[in-house]
Amino acid sequence: MEAAGSTRRRRGRRCVVTGSAGFIGSTLCARLAREGWAVTGVDAFTDSYDPVEKVLRAASLTRVAGTTLVVGDLAELDLARVFDGAEVVFHLAGRAGVRPSFAQEERYVHDNVVTTERVVAAARQSGVRRIVYASSSSVYGDGDAPFREDAAPSPISPYGRTKLEAERCALAASGADLEAVALRYFTVFGPGQRPDMGLRLFAEAALAGRPITLFGDGTQRRDFTYVHDVVAATVAAADAPAAGLAVNVGGGASVSLLEVFDLLRRLVATELLVDVQPFARGDVRVTSADLSRSAELLGFAPQVPFAVGYERQVSWLRDRLDQSMVRSA
Ligand SMILES: NC(=O)c1ccc[n+]([C@@H]2O[C@H](COP(=O)([O-])OP(=O)(O)OC[C@H]3O[C@@H](n4cnc5c(N)ncnc54)[C@H](O)[C@@H]3O)[C@@H](O)[C@H]2O)c1
Repeated sequence: MEAAGSTRRRRGRRCVVTGSAGFIGSTLCARLAREGWAVTGVDAFTDSYDPVEKVLRAASLTRVAGTTLVVGDLAELDLARVFDGAEVVFHLAGRAGVRPSFAQEERYVHDNVVTTERVVAAARQSGVRRIVYASSSSVYGDGDAPFREDAAPSPISPYGRTKLEAERCALAASGADLEAVALRYFTVFGPGQRPDMGLRLFAEAALAGRPITLFGDGTQRRDFTYVHDVVAATVAAADAPAAGLAVNVGGGASVSLLEVFDLLRRLVATELLVDVQPFARGDVRVTSADLSRSAELLGFAPQVPFAVGYERQVSWLRDRLDQSMVRSA
């Protein structure tokens, strides 16, 4: 719960959210606007997945008082103009997803590294106080779990490597005239999740009675993090004493895919059909966040356990499916 006083303090503050039509960025914009920030969202509606999903998120944000949207590529826009008067830039734009990154490395370099270099340079020129960068647990690769921020990163995919390069670019710029914080998000889920992510694909297949594609034996574990917890940590990072640091943002428990299927079976009340495929390249065996630093510096503690969050996500997907059936009837 946010104290009324802290909401009042934020009134009149201006920020920019890049990737505002994305899964996490759109949820962040809505929360910042509710807290009284004036929010400028930036997004290019890239083709990483169906842009219609992004356009619909952007359209619902334009109805939220206090938000405006700039459409364009961060590698081309006049960022000094976009950032003018902003105190904080939440830089969430990027190309996510491990598996496609092997075949599209250039796109990942463009959307993750080139954009971040431009965002950091423009933020400094425009007098922005702080950048909060959306980094990823993928920078750890197959490191020893639980992952601590002071461990040497060892990404095993182009996605992980580009996120690490971008994170380093932001943190290296952190100093007297610009502060930077890199948040390492761990597999984010909840209503609105990206359509290419496992939890959404599993639930969509189960609800439609189609086979679920499983890469590997299902014993791989993920530290799933509910989107509202991620957003709370991101808002806290705007003011936390964490300048120059990377900070983990995880859900607090590591859950195996076999455990996910057990829960999903109960949520959809039917047996699941599973099509087992070999382990995918770049897929790590375990992710698990050490949350000591985020607790200490951000005051962060995840609030939504996996089972509760996934039930909400499945119910959101069921509503979407019902609506599309009504439309096509
Ligand atoms: N979802 C997760 O589990 C997760 C985990 C770790 C890190 N992250 C990071 O968090 C951020 C947000 O993730 P998401 O799941 O919301 O992804 P998303 O793909 O839904 O959102 C990213 C948005 O950035 C926009 N974008 C990409 N390149 C751009 C460019 N050059 N110019 C302008 N806009 C551009 C896209 O159009 C998209 O709307 C990403 O940087 C991602 O790497 C996500």
